[in-house]
Amino acid sequence: MSRSAHPAGPRHADVLPEGHYAAPPADLNVLDPKVWARTVARGEDGVVTVAGLPVTRLAEEFGTPAYILDEADFRARARAWRTAFGDDADVFYAGKAFLSRAVVRWLAEEGLNLDVCSGGELATALSAGMPADRIAFHGNNKSAAEIERAVRAGVGRIVLDSFQEIVRVAHIAQSLGKRQRVQIRVTVGVEAHTHEFIATAHEDQKFGIPLAGGQAAEAVRRALRLDGIELIGIHSHIGSQIFDMSGFEVAAHRVVGLLKDIRDEHGVELPEIDLGGGLGIAYTSDDDPREPQEIAKALTEIVTRECRAARLQTPRISVEPGRAIVGPTAFTLYEVGTVKPLDGLRTYVSVDGGMSDNIRTALYDAEYSVALVSRASEAEPMLVRVVGKHCESGDIVVKDAFLPADLAPGDLIAVPATGAYCRSMASNYNHALRPPVVAVEGGEARVIVRRETEEDLLRLDVG
Ligand SMILES: Cc1ncc(COP(=O)(O)O)c(C=O)c1O
Repeated sequence: MSRSAHPAGPRHADVLPEGHYAAPPADLNVLDPKVWARTVARGEDGVVTVAGLPVTRLAEEFGTPAYILDEADFRARARAWRTAFGDDADVFYAGKAFLSRAVVRWLAEEGLNLDVCSGGELATALSAGMPADRIAFHGNNKSAAEIERAVRAGVGRIVLDSFQEIVRVAHIAQSLGKRQRVQIRVTVGVEAHTHEFIATAHEDQKFGIPLAGGQAAEAVRRALRLDGIELIGIHSHIGSQIFDMSGFEVAAHRVVGLLKDIRDEHGVELPEIDLGGGLGIAYTSDDDPREPQEIAKALTEIVTRECRAARLQTPRISVEPGRAIVGPTAFTLYEVGTVKPLDGLRTYVSVDGGMSDNIRTALYDAEYSVALVSRASEAEPMLVRVVGKHCESGDIVVKDAFLPADLAPGDLIAVPATGAYCRSMASNYNHALRPPVVAVEGGEARVIVRRETEEDLLRLDVG
């Protein structure tokens, strides 16, 4: 995005400050369907509705801040991924993006599998009835207790992340009289983010075992020797918020290269390949995500072509989208507390949440959009920074955006595309009470994760 001039003339400065903002949209009342959940619309009275419910009513009933999640949209996106990959491939929703028992039930009903990466996520999945054989267990430092629980439960696969873990899982499974299906996570020397990928030294990270230097091949050798595990495939995850498929192309090429080496050395063709998650979504109108159909076609073609060239049977493909399913389906509803114009700079809009409910802006410099949702406004656009109420100057929710210049305390604003990595990364910083997740569907709203209370906080404080 490029910096551009304010058509109506900036409100507080002759020159706009440095920032990553585009020109203000022609009409601030229009909601770009790319970034909002599918049932979101602005009513004739100017109030935004979701699943037919006015946000003003949701704020009254559930308070703010609150994550509002469009269940029909979630189910439709999950189904679209499932349908796009068909019966010859598996879609594992990445629970780290957002997990609750309701979400687990929706996934189970829509025919998806689930990737979990901690004992807590595993417990949530099992308690909501996800069949264990549809669960993949990830993580770079699973404890012995977590591994034992996963093996006992009968998870479909454990994704091994280190040499120690190969032995650990094999021993635990063997001591339980089981043979655990496993994949080995490799790093392929590719890191992809958004529109770019870099194929250099990205083995320098905590996840996976590098292909480089023959380390992954050695991991396979060791795994094939152990009775407690059955090596079923190779796993690769190359990054996040990816739009460009060329990173996957290089990753698939390298993973298939390993499968070929395994066949040549051991006479074994591993039946599965997992290409991870990381597919991008629209956080702002400038992002152009791909449809699941297009992604499925591209990935299937890449793997099939590479396998044909290596004279291998095409393995069963699996993918692990998290953000691409849940991200666009929710928005965070905030109430404006203060509007503070800084002459020559910008206007700071403080809301009743912040980095405790959305850490992504502070952590990754993530970009978001924002809109006034409790009413329409014909006022001119004003350049704003939406900030939270925490004791941290980096407590920014939306770095640069435009809101109507008549914005005032008490107005409700909403930040779209907060379904992924917001509630799941939420904290209690400043003893904030983490907001609820309210699922809306067919004119009805229900809390699926309730708001924290001061009693919740104090219950843990046992000193
Ligand atoms: C192994 C693995 N799979 C899947 C995902 C999900 O990524 P995303 O939510 O970007 O699709 C992640 C994210 O970190 C991951 O590490």
